[in-house]
Amino acid sequence: MKNIALIGFMGAGKSTIAEALHQKYGMQVVEMDALIAKREGMSIPEIFAQKGEPYFRDLETALLVELQEQENTVISCGGGVPMRERNVEEMRKNGTVVWLQASAETILNRVKHSHERPLLEGKKNVEAIAGMLEGRREKYEAAADLVIRTDGKDAEQICEEIISQIGQE
Ligand code: S3P
Repeated sequence: MKNIALIGFMGAGKSTIAEALHQKYGMQVVEMDALIAKREGMSIPEIFAQKGEPYFRDLETALLVELQEQENTVISCGGGVPMRERNVEEMRKNGTVVWLQASAETILNRVKHSHERPLLEGKKNVEAIAGMLEGRREKYEAAADLVIRTDGKDAEQICEEIISQIGQE
């Protein structure tokens, strides 16, 4: 199977769906954030605080290039990956890009108790999240081959939709 790159806002369900695709279809999973954190020996908030966001974004770009060697892999991308044009170019060489959409309310519910996302600190309310979503919409749209709405669906339904839509491409 061709690689799948999952994009979408923080809390859109990328990691959950990557794991479900692994369980259901035996695809390998690469969690970009987790792999970067492991290699750097630091959490994502520590990388942002100590090295800065541009340094983190460069690591994302390098990892997307490295992953072009993979097959049958789901790449769970960090939410900010599509914001860089170069990243979109590299990601598209990796396989089908699937944008998981979720409403600001759903996102807030998923992220409200976590402190793993430095860009959301102080912004955990529907208005702020809706504003950030709007600001990113155009970039996500430009990067995506497929768009999947996730609100009110379970992981199984979302996986089936992804695989059936990829089959029709
Ligand atoms: C980010 C999303 C995060 C992580 C970092 C920045 C973003 O990943 O890469 O905190 O800019 O949207 P998740 O989308 O997996 O939370």
